[in-house]
Amino acid sequence: MALCVLPHSKFSNNYHSHTSPVPQHTRRKSAVTVRMTASSGGGGLASYEEGELDRPNWTGQTPLSRLVGALIAFKPLYSVLKLGARQVLISTAEKTNVPWREMTKEILESDVYKEMESVQNASVVYPDYYLSPFHAYDEGNLSWLAAAEAEAATMSMVRRAIPDASSLEEANEIVRGNWLNAIEQHHQQYSGNLKIRDILDIGCSVGVSTRFLADKFPDTKLTGLDLSPYFLAVAKYKEKASPQRSNSFQWIHANGECTGLDSQSFDIVSISYVLHECPARATINLAKESFRLLRPGGTLVITDNSPKSKKLQQLSPVLFTLMKSTEPFLDEYYLLDLEKTVKDAGFVNVQTILTDPRHRTLTATVPY
Ligand SMILES: C[S@@+](CC[C@H](N)C(=O)[O-])C[C@H]1O[C@@H](n2cnc3c(N)ncnc32)[C@H](O)[C@@H]1O
Repeated sequence: MALCVLPHSKFSNNYHSHTSPVPQHTRRKSAVTVRMTASSGGGGLASYEEGELDRPNWTGQTPLSRLVGALIAFKPLYSVLKLGARQVLISTAEKTNVPWREMTKEILESDVYKEMESVQNASVVYPDYYLSPFHAYDEGNLSWLAAAEAEAATMSMVRRAIPDASSLEEANEIVRGNWLNAIEQHHQQYSGNLKIRDILDIGCSVGVSTRFLADKFPDTKLTGLDLSPYFLAVAKYKEKASPQRSNSFQWIHANGECTGLDSQSFDIVSISYVLHECPARATINLAKESFRLLRPGGTLVITDNSPKSKKLQQLSPVLFTLMKSTEPFLDEYYLLDLEKTVKDAGFVNVQTILTDPRHRTLTATVPY
């Protein structure tokens, strides 16, 4: 077991010192990332267009971003925005046939509560950022309601990324399929000789990403790790209820910045849709911890919103204001130079591609 001490300060605002100074929203030539799609069976090509900016102008320290920040900071308005954000989330999910309320009810009325005792680690210390209100839940990710709604929220995110898809499965084939293909291709290219045996899914939430990884890599052991014991209880409950897989699963309640797991014990560390929920100081620690946990030749994969996504750069003011009202660390996420953070942690072969119109996937290797 490894021990680590996190120097978290409640008011840490010093992430700029770790990042390269970057202009706020430099205009640059629009580019196109070309990528194989899962649905094409590896044979076809899809292109996802980048916008003209380095990041959306509603993020960072731009006048627009400051204005939105000031609106959100006004408490009476924040309460209205929070409710509005929740309504929009549920109604847009249901419009794309994600049965949000039925799925939530099913979990809340199930035996999921019995899993809590086996997954909760009472000695976990929550970092300050994790205790902020989040996603319109006052207790952030630390509640049964947030846990019961998490899978529907994930499905809705995938549908939003591919609005033209005729079904959730089709959207997943692109969003999750391209992410999984990026991992496989990177690992084959740079670590061909290192067999994939152990995979760690940091910020596994209710286990959706963990199960996708398991299906892609059937001969592996999966470890899903998350700070929310409520989410882990749902993950364990769902895994027991889903079709038997050849993989073995374990669920760990810990901070991904400082897991306490053995050094060099994984071949893949995946961090999917976690970093936009974290301050930059946590992302820096997550990169360092992933480096420690991977074997030489191991692959790190991070997928999340792309600052360069044309779709995100063109989001409507109503949508980005609602989104920012429930995601307290979006500005830090978009300002951080993720490639540099990963290189600074020791990784090589750092590559980033748009794997769908909204999301980037970064892959990197621990040198031999
Ligand atoms: C949007 S969810 C991830 C979804 C999931 N990986 C997927 O792809 O469907 C983000 C998760 O990150 C977790 N998280 C945030 N900070 C964390 C940390 N420092 N350590 C572990 N988990 C963390 C949250 O509890 C939440 O479950």
